[in-house]
Amino acid sequence: MCGITSYVGPRDAASVVLDGLTRLEYRGYDSAGIVSFDAGTTTTLKRAGKLANLQSAMAEQHLPGHRAVGHTRWATHGRPTNENAHPHVSEDGRLALVHNGIIENHAELRNRLEALGHVFTSETDSETLVHLIEEHDEGDLLTAVQEALKQVEGAYALVVAHAEGEGIVVARATSPLVIGLGDGEQFIASDVSALLPYTDRVVYLSDGEVAVVNETAVTLYGPDGAERSLDVDVIDWDADAADKGGWPHYMLKEIYEQPTVLQNTLAERFNEAGDDVTLDLTLDPATFDRIVVVAAGTASYAGMVGEAFLERLARIPCEVQVASEFRYAEPILDERTLVVAVSQSGETIDTLEAVREAKRAGAKTLAILNVRGSSIAREVDDILYIHAGPEIGVASTKAYLAMLAAFALLAVWVGRTRGALDAERAKAWIEELRTAPARVEEVLQRRPAVQDAVPLLDDARGVLYLGRGVNVASAFEGALKLKEITYLHAEAYPTGEMKHGPIALIDAATPVVALAPEGRLHAKTLSNLQEVRARDGRVLAIASDGDEAIASHADVILTVPRTSELLSPMLLAVPMQLLAYETAVRLGRDVDQPRNLAKSVTVE
Ligand code: AGP
Repeated sequence: MCGITSYVGPRDAASVVLDGLTRLEYRGYDSAGIVSFDAGTTTTLKRAGKLANLQSAMAEQHLPGHRAVGHTRWATHGRPTNENAHPHVSEDGRLALVHNGIIENHAELRNRLEALGHVFTSETDSETLVHLIEEHDEGDLLTAVQEALKQVEGAYALVVAHAEGEGIVVARATSPLVIGLGDGEQFIASDVSALLPYTDRVVYLSDGEVAVVNETAVTLYGPDGAERSLDVDVIDWDADAADKGGWPHYMLKEIYEQPTVLQNTLAERFNEAGDDVTLDLTLDPATFDRIVVVAAGTASYAGMVGEAFLERLARIPCEVQVASEFRYAEPILDERTLVVAVSQSGETIDTLEAVREAKRAGAKTLAILNVRGSSIAREVDDILYIHAGPEIGVASTKAYLAMLAAFALLAVWVGRTRGALDAERAKAWIEELRTAPARVEEVLQRRPAVQDAVPLLDDARGVLYLGRGVNVASAFEGALKLKEITYLHAEAYPTGEMKHGPIALIDAATPVVALAPEGRLHAKTLSNLQEVRARDGRVLAIASDGDEAIASHADVILTVPRTSELLSPMLLAVPMQLLAYETAVRLGRDVDQPRNLAKSVTVE
């Protein structure tokens, strides 16, 4: 996934574009570049590596003009080099574009264009577009873009401009693009976080749409070339919500936002009596009798917890399928199936394609989402927003907890309608849910204990995360947090599985993080931990306050407030988030922008 920003208006365009790139760097940070347009000429600056490299270069070379286009890249085709960095510029230097997505038929197009004499300077699929548009350019950029895109197969968010013109042409297919409307100026970006300081009025481009963006007007065209009216949204996030606000890392800020986020997710979603939910959904739980959750990464682990909520509280069959596998698995779906797509960004292409597969099969679709106006938001039947605010850190934290809360609400919504959850049990669950923000706040105050635990992972060859029941999902999420920001190997297992092979891994160099909350699986977990310690395994246990039995089964113990086993994932996640964070800091990792990753993956 890459970050695109562009500007046209009275300001110094390159500065506005650079500011936008700094807010989108979490989308990809292998290389970056900006092109500005001034008095019939273009000036382009590109640098491999982090955006800071481009910023340094810009201090040496001014990019003049009131139109500019910028890009921060997550490499798909071609290594992160200056040549492969965007923008890509035509041979005469007068046409320049940036692209997010994948051009599936780029090789065939490239061969055809090279045979016509076009000279390529990069290894990227994106460069094909600039030559293709050049090939169709007969003086009107909009027409050239529309004609060129008719030959393109694949995903794109495309921003292109010509030195001669006044405006900027944008186009979208699958990859997100949003236009921020100003007064006598316009802003363009991959997502709203780059627009927040400038405007709250936005137009999300839909698939197949092309727009001409001038200082004073935006003109939108549909796939058929006919002009369309603008559907203007007003963003309800404020600019500083997307800033670090004095925290050392976005990830730590977002971990500490979780009590507030949980309150926001739950707010105004309970009935007066406190024994049911009010979710403002149009779908009717009486119209489906099976749920399939599709998601990727952390969102899929939230789905695994959600599966337990739905099956235990609403007694509805539920299964979780990894989105990237789902549409190739010939899934068994019908109109009585509800497919729930879970996604923070709403842009994960695997999850978006899973939604499309579900719709093709006639299933109903519901999204549990954070980002309004996102691609998935535009394709499902209904949406349960998690209201987590902008999540910038690549490692998902607050969105995960908010997803759990959303599933907790959904379980009541389905259970009460199906008659599987009576008012008394629903009321008890809701009362416990309402204590979650305060309990998470309590866990956050215990960060020093986590900092003291970090040395247990020193020199670890790998780390095993163990959980039982609903906390098998918690173990997977905890292991992913550690992997993605510390680069340490970690894997998750159902605790009871240890003795069926993985226990061979246990030695002093393979510490174990064991989830051992109070509940009916506590005793079994303790005996499993004995098996680990009998083989010199070092154990970091995360247990419930007041648990005295755990002391003899672990080297280090972290605790969380007592809660039901079913709701314990919401609390257990927090020490594991902090453990990953503190370990990554200790190892000097780039916590917010870990290597090889991007905040959401909009390529398959
Ligand atoms: C989680 O920390 C990772 N960043 C990653 O697994 C992420 O959860 C996954 O890519 C799904 O993203 P989404 O929620 O935006 O769809």
